[in-house]
Amino acid sequence: MSATGYAEGLAAPATGAHSAVRVDAYVEAPIRAFAIATVFWGVVGFLVGVVIASQLAWPLLNLDLEWTTFGRLRPVHTSAVIFAFGGNALLCTSLYVVQRTCRARLFGGDAMGWFLFWGYQFVIVAAALGYVLGVTQGKEYAEPEWYVDLWLTVVWVHYLVAFGGTIIRREEPHIYVANWFYLAFIITVAMLHIGNNLALPITMGHSKSYGLASGVQDAMIQWWYGHNAVGFFLTAGFLGMMYYFIPKQAERPVYSYRLSIVHFWSLIFLYIWAGPHHLHYTALPDWAQTLGMVFSIMLWMPSWGGMINGVMTLSGAWDKLRTNPALRFSVTAVGFYGMSTFEGPVMSIKAVNALSHYTDWTIGHVHSGAMGWVGFVTFGALYWLFPRLWNKQRIYSEKLISWHFWIATLGIVLYITAMWVSGILQGLMWRAYDENGFLQYSFIETVAAMHPYYVIRVMGGLLYLTGALIMVYNLWMTVTRGESEEAVAAPAPASAVSAAAA
Ligand code: HEM
Ligand code: HEM
Repeated sequence: MSATGYAEGLAAPATGAHSAVRVDAYVEAPIRAFAIATVFWGVVGFLVGVVIASQLAWPLLNLDLEWTTFGRLRPVHTSAVIFAFGGNALLCTSLYVVQRTCRARLFGGDAMGWFLFWGYQFVIVAAALGYVLGVTQGKEYAEPEWYVDLWLTVVWVHYLVAFGGTIIRREEPHIYVANWFYLAFIITVAMLHIGNNLALPITMGHSKSYGLASGVQDAMIQWWYGHNAVGFFLTAGFLGMMYYFIPKQAERPVYSYRLSIVHFWSLIFLYIWAGPHHLHYTALPDWAQTLGMVFSIMLWMPSWGGMINGVMTLSGAWDKLRTNPALRFSVTAVGFYGMSTFEGPVMSIKAVNALSHYTDWTIGHVHSGAMGWVGFVTFGALYWLFPRLWNKQRIYSEKLISWHFWIATLGIVLYITAMWVSGILQGLMWRAYDENGFLQYSFIETVAAMHPYYVIRVMGGLLYLTGALIMVYNLWMTVTRGESEEAVAAPAPASAVSAAAA
């Protein structure tokens, strides 16, 4: 089917209604496990987020124990939400989507699915144990030491083979755009992971290693990695999710298939150059900082192209926002995506970064993208997937989805507005001089000024966590109490079953 075919309103393969492959031909059990793991690690990650937010508000909660200090728990939070919650969501949805849109069984079958599942959970547990015990490379988002890195490489290569192999054996001639985004995420993360983790262990029996690069080169490689972890892990993969689940939930084809292709290639090309915006006013050569800034500003265009494509897919189906609360999650996610990808380019401008860098403004930006975009698009997908993966007619309670939505939205609003106010206040206090040219505030005065905002953040985080717990209850009831598809439609023809589940 031609690309323009989708733009003209023909059903994208994501609708799956013409699927010739029986639903029982797809690998499903490991995908169900990935869905459960997404929910489980989400709750763990949000909980640790609330704990570290409370530690910043009330330092006594560090408990004077080395294992529970902020410094050790912070990477537990970031890895739990990005790699455990986000990573399981990406593995879950990509393996689900690639099979349906290619009308092909997962390459490597159930064995491959289970290897990926257990292999990836092992990475998460080994990394988290290391952080709590103080084993770390000290590189943000790449903290695990060499032995975990090596194992992740093995798992990731299998992931690439499974995903790529499924695309190669596809029965659908066209490769649906969601798969392009997922594939870019898988390949680029492999490249970043290997590039940033080239290190030599002290001895094979020692957990500590030293990186091959040092000084400013090391910093540049780290932020080439760090920024593209945002660009490819937290963005490209989740855009794959957007391109499959929003058309499914809205029962509409993608607004413009052509725009989705432009979106894909421009985003992939631009993101990879923007890393130096994390190193403004450092020892990095000035031209490299400016290059990072210029590419970041250019990134605004493809980001908003993608946002417009996602939101406009609802053309003619806006009323569904009233009746389908899960769709509300996905569409609000795209709104947050638009917001954080507007804010990011602004923050990359050197004059703005001079104020925002090192402050809570960055933390506010991170969480509008992370809680609003990554979290919400995942919740939308989970509400769509659970009934289908467990062969149930519908989600247990739409009302509870609505409750989750409003509570979590309120939580995000509290979190990010508190961080904007505290960040800008912090930045202005740091640079305030008195009439004699001395700094007007001591550092501890700026810390004290943050306290009320840190308390508000804890409240925001608690609301977000509460919403997630409501989701756990709702999904649990869907799986255990929901009426199965067969209960109403038996004996359904295989094609009808596959259409409903695809
Ligand atoms: C209950 C919800 C959450 C709470 C209470 C929370 C809290 C926190 C806190 C207190 C920090 C440390 C800030 C600092 O060092 O000043 C942090 C950092 C971070 N969080 Fe969260 N978080 C939550 C959800 C999430 C989610 C869902 C994601 C991603 C999907 C996420 C990703 C991150 C990242 C990437 C950082 C590091 C930011 C940086 O270094 O600039 N968080 N979070
Ligand atoms: C056009 C898109 C974007 C651009 C140009 C951009 C730009 C920026 C800039 C300039 C910073 C501050 C760097 C510093 O002062 O240290 C930053 C930090 C960050 N952004 Fe974005 N951003 C974008 C989108 C996003 C999205 C969608 C997310 C999350 C899903 C995100 C997550 C983060 C994280 C985690 C950090 C903190 C990194 C750290 O210091 O640990 N960004 N971004």
